[in-house]
Amino acid sequence: MSGVLPTPLIPFRRLERPAGTEKRDFLSLHDLSVLEVGAMLDLAAEVKAHPAAFARALEGRTAALIFEKPSLRTRVSFEVGLLQMGAHGIYLAPADIGLGKREAVKDVARNLALWVDALVMRTFSQRILEDMALQGRIPVINALSDLLHPCQTVADLLTLRECKGQLQGLRVAFVGDGNNVAHSLAHGAAKVGLHLAIASPPGFEPASTILMQALADADATGATIRVMHDPAEAVRDADAVYTDVWTSMGQEEQAEERRTIFASYQVNASLMALAKPNAVFLHCLPAHRGEEVTTEVLDGSQSLALQQAANRLHAHKAILLSLLAETPA
Ligand code: CP
Ligand code: NVA
Repeated sequence: MSGVLPTPLIPFRRLERPAGTEKRDFLSLHDLSVLEVGAMLDLAAEVKAHPAAFARALEGRTAALIFEKPSLRTRVSFEVGLLQMGAHGIYLAPADIGLGKREAVKDVARNLALWVDALVMRTFSQRILEDMALQGRIPVINALSDLLHPCQTVADLLTLRECKGQLQGLRVAFVGDGNNVAHSLAHGAAKVGLHLAIASPPGFEPASTILMQALADADATGATIRVMHDPAEAVRDADAVYTDVWTSMGQEEQAEERRTIFASYQVNASLMALAKPNAVFLHCLPAHRGEEVTTEVLDGSQSLALQQAANRLHAHKAILLSLLAETPA
């Protein structure tokens, strides 16, 4: 390959596997060490600054992309990222493979490993991803599950670092549902030393298992993770305010009920006014304008939503390189 990786191969993965089946996966940011998260952000920045240096880094490699939920940003940026590094992506729609219906998950995983080098998968249960990772012989990348969205967080941290210069000690407020995006943000915050305040309605807080994982890392980095119900308390003096949809994919039948429950959790100009004057607004997209965020804020001068989306490409390239690239001689 022509690009030289600035970091050593990253040995992250936590799943217990039979001897002789060692490989890496990217299922949860919690599986990476503090140093590995920093190295991944550095690699993403390097890839962004010098894309041509990585143009053949994954030459001849192939990844399968299985998306059981809709996607614009994740699918396109993975496919483009693979292409720009000399690799090839094969998109498999749910109906094409009938995962778990036409064929057992473990058989799909075992067969895919015969032909491709990696699997990028968006699905419902985190357990399905873990099963694919355990059964297959190829790296599995979590392209979003009901529980986590770690690829998004890599792009979010890269975006925040670009804008604020550093991450350590920044105050970030997440307002809304304690969902997959909030969970991975908590994992990431703990790895890089953010002060994260999450404001959710009662009953919609992040999962305690995720918070426990984040808190376990927080001591080492000086991060703090707080959960509250008052959006104003979370946003006051924040450097960044993040929100996501009130109804995630797979919860569509709850949309009406959630619109009522989350009504006072909208990020609008008056809520943003409580944050620092130079605070930025973050959203993973897609956004439901007029629900979790007003158009004024989403399209306003503080919004980094499109920069986050642009950085998905560089984040995904860094993830793919970390899992697949050869170590430089
Ligand atoms: N943010 C994000 O993951 O977007 P998509 O659902 O369009 O991939
Ligand atoms: N929480 C949202 C994120 C979409 C990128 C969902 O799961 O639908």
